[in-house]
Amino acid sequence: MSLLSREQRGRALALMERVMREGAPIAPEYPLCFDERFPGRVLATEEDGRVVSACALLVRDFACGSRSVRVGLIGSVCTAPEARGRGLASALLRRAEEELAGEGCVLAMLWADDARFYEERGWSPIGAEVDFALEPAHEARLPGSAGLRAAAPDDRGAIHRLYTLQRERVERSPQETAALLAAPGMETLVLQRERDVVAYSCLGRGKDFARTIHEWSGSERDVLALVREHMRRARSRGEGGATFLITPATASGLHERLRGLGANWSEGVLAMGKLLQPEGAAALLAELAGPEASISVDGGVGAVVSLTGPSGSVELSAEELLGLLVPARGRRHGIDPVARATGLALSELPLPLFAWGLDSI
Ligand SMILES: CC(C)(COP(=O)(O)OP(=O)(O)OC[C@H]1O[C@@H](n2cnc3c(N)ncnc32)[C@H](O)[C@@H]1OP(=O)(O)O)[C@@H](O)C(=O)NCCC(=O)NCCS
Repeated sequence: MSLLSREQRGRALALMERVMREGAPIAPEYPLCFDERFPGRVLATEEDGRVVSACALLVRDFACGSRSVRVGLIGSVCTAPEARGRGLASALLRRAEEELAGEGCVLAMLWADDARFYEERGWSPIGAEVDFALEPAHEARLPGSAGLRAAAPDDRGAIHRLYTLQRERVERSPQETAALLAAPGMETLVLQRERDVVAYSCLGRGKDFARTIHEWSGSERDVLALVREHMRRARSRGEGGATFLITPATASGLHERLRGLGANWSEGVLAMGKLLQPEGAAALLAELAGPEASISVDGGVGAVVSLTGPSGSVELSAEELLGLLVPARGRRHGIDPVARATGLALSELPLPLFAWGLDSI
């Protein structure tokens, strides 16, 4: 792992602010990457004492039902305008991938402004979310509730406990959740019943998630009451147009209620991803594919995994393996042919990997 001095980190941050925020601060939006109390870090390339290219890294354990999957997050990839087109970001990205693989990450994930840049470097869309668009006319059809209010700093412990009730999530400490909730540009609401906070929701975050509720927890009815309150507040600020709600693909009860209201929805991808450790991914696939499966890994560059079941074997490239575990939009069209060819049910695939809005970097 390469560690920067405090001065180098300051110069890298200044470059990120210049390229991505027109000079405005970026660190308060991503405390887990830029606050020394937390485990994220910055990678940078320097020329003559100047940082010319930089990115942020954060290793996270994703809880997927009863499983844990280590994922490396990469964010704020940037090169100084005067140094572009020389392969600096490509080289830095490769370094980031190598370091994350060395730290046990099975895959890497990022949220790209320019997907093409990453697709040309072996990344592909992975995972699923279901996004709803609620128009102003839907507000009155959502349930109301007493006890809705803006979150206060001393609600952060209760919010963290509600967060940990989600089956699909990124593991976070209470301190990490508290720091993320203090990020600028976010409206966090809670629903309090008697003395207990029983639900919460977050809308907006820095420059991301405009008009979008990206993290929430609580009963379906309480979450819908929170959505209604965000919409009411937007209306009283004079904001027209839709309010968006991001949900995990597994939240089928909530999806049904929202469809029943007539809300428009679409299936989206979770992020861009790249397999970093074929061995780790093969071990995960072996667990998910059950006792009838056997897997062998042919390590090295362009590693191929072969998966064998009662009816036969298939050879998988790194990209195909990732597409089996966390296919874009959760589609099974890569999984079903493998199930037929091997005679394995593969019913535990895809893996319900999901990150809530506060986890993106
Ligand atoms: C996107 C960005 C990070 C690219 O930085 P960069 O250092 O210019 O990237 P690279 O030089 O590695 O690649 C850029 C192009 O130069 C080309 N190139 C030139 N010489 C090269 C070399 N020696 N090796 C590799 N690529 C080279 C690449 O082919 C690439 O073209 P492509 O995108 O069509 O494949 C930079 O433009 C940037 O900071 N943009 C604004 C911030 C941003 O959008 N970040 C992404 C958000 S997550």
